[in-house]
Amino acid sequence: MDALPTQTSRHQTGGAPLEEMRFRELPFAKLKDRSYSHQRLLADQTRCESFRAAIQEAVKPGDVVVDLGTGSGLLAFFAVQAGARKVYAIELGPIVRYAERIAKRNKLDDKIEFIRGVSYDIEIPELADVVIGENLGSLGIEENILPMYQDAARRFLKPGGRMLPNKLAVSIALVSDTGIHSRYIDPWRSKMYGIDFDTFLHIQLQTLFLGHFDDERIITLPQLYSESILDQNLSYSETTDKTLQFDIDRPTTLSGFIAYFDASLTDSIRITNAPSSGKGSWDQVYFPIGELLQLKRGYKISVRIKFYTTRSDVIVSWRVTIAQENGETVYDYRSTRYPPLSMPADLIGPIKPPEIDPENRWIAFVLSRFDGSISREQLKDMLHAIDPELSGNFIERTLDLAFTYVGTQSISPELEVSERMNFLIQSHFDGLLCCDEIAEIIWTEFPETFSPSHALLRIQQNIEQCVASAIGV
Ligand SMILES: C[S@@+](CC[C@H](N)C(=O)[O-])C[C@H]1O[C@@H](n2cnc3c(N)ncnc32)[C@H](O)[C@@H]1O
Repeated sequence: MDALPTQTSRHQTGGAPLEEMRFRELPFAKLKDRSYSHQRLLADQTRCESFRAAIQEAVKPGDVVVDLGTGSGLLAFFAVQAGARKVYAIELGPIVRYAERIAKRNKLDDKIEFIRGVSYDIEIPELADVVIGENLGSLGIEENILPMYQDAARRFLKPGGRMLPNKLAVSIALVSDTGIHSRYIDPWRSKMYGIDFDTFLHIQLQTLFLGHFDDERIITLPQLYSESILDQNLSYSETTDKTLQFDIDRPTTLSGFIAYFDASLTDSIRITNAPSSGKGSWDQVYFPIGELLQLKRGYKISVRIKFYTTRSDVIVSWRVTIAQENGETVYDYRSTRYPPLSMPADLIGPIKPPEIDPENRWIAFVLSRFDGSISREQLKDMLHAIDPELSGNFIERTLDLAFTYVGTQSISPELEVSERMNFLIQSHFDGLLCCDEIAEIIWTEFPETFSPSHALLRIQQNIEQCVASAIGV
């Protein structure tokens, strides 16, 4: 079992096509080489060929196409190859500059208009016949495909237009994997060097792990958790809360469960990271429970998973309850994965954001969610969704402190550049991004105002002076 303790980012483990590519893996490649993750995406031939075949099927000669999150430009290029008259290729990251260069080099640039920005803010001058994109996370939904596609379907697509992918399902199966627990979780139960580090135990239990789970480790048939049809009627609900029941038909050990997606690109072409699909670039996502449990035949396991999906984040809570054959509950476990407490080492850059006192993490959490449009009511709902046991008073007080710190009740686009930048920094201070990565975002937003190193310096100052003091209120 090759599971990594990590957030639900994908492409962390290599499939066969990657091994063939033989990249030089410099330790700092992730931070320094902006095209690195896209090179990895391009190296996944199953992914790329599936999209190519699907785009050939979905895009008709003369079509107008929108590519959501074009990255290296791959899907836009496929659309031109399929005969598209015009492709609007939208991308929020600096990779789009390389995509433009690649388009020119391949003489595909006359048909593609690259647009730098977040899709929600972009307008295009005509409606599209087809919206395409690859925004599938290992869990299917954690790259925010649902809000992004909903917005695109409403604003970019002709009536009766097509979307690719057009369906996205998430399935769950129970798992027995003692390796993850013995390697990543159990070591934190005992003292080390005479010190009790069980804080890390809690962090690990709030971590979603990525790995490939072969059939031997899967102890129940998978069940469908959710299915979304990605078309013009797509309406996603911010909160998905569903409980699945599994019956145990033989004695076994339970360690957690996995989730994976199954996406229809067209009616005949699918892409999935189901364990049976082999080891590709998406692994399955593993949700641990607190300890390994011996199950008897006749036990009933209920798995409740709650996703809170916004335009910028997905928060996941899970609860596993075990009942004996006579209905008596013998185990009840719950956990939530949210960024401030789980800070994977590989995402912490050279300058570490300040450590957050767990007592104040809620304030930091609220600060990190300010995106210029979120309302107090939405924040309240969000906090309540994450932990229904938080008292109303506590939530109000947390919001008061966060709003006081930001110094406003709403954020207006007319703010001074420096205020907007401070705001942007706070909104990305989620304990996940390292300063280099935040600096890149800031620089992307204000390219004329700041050099990358200036942006980094400002972030350092901002984090040290402002955020640290705010969360220490
Ligand atoms: C998984 S990559 C796929 C890139 C390319 N389409 C491919 O298939 O190789 C997803 C890309 O979408 C971009 N992205 C995500 N959300 C976006 C949004 N709301 N607006 C614009 N770009 C977005 C990311 O920056 C990333 O480059």
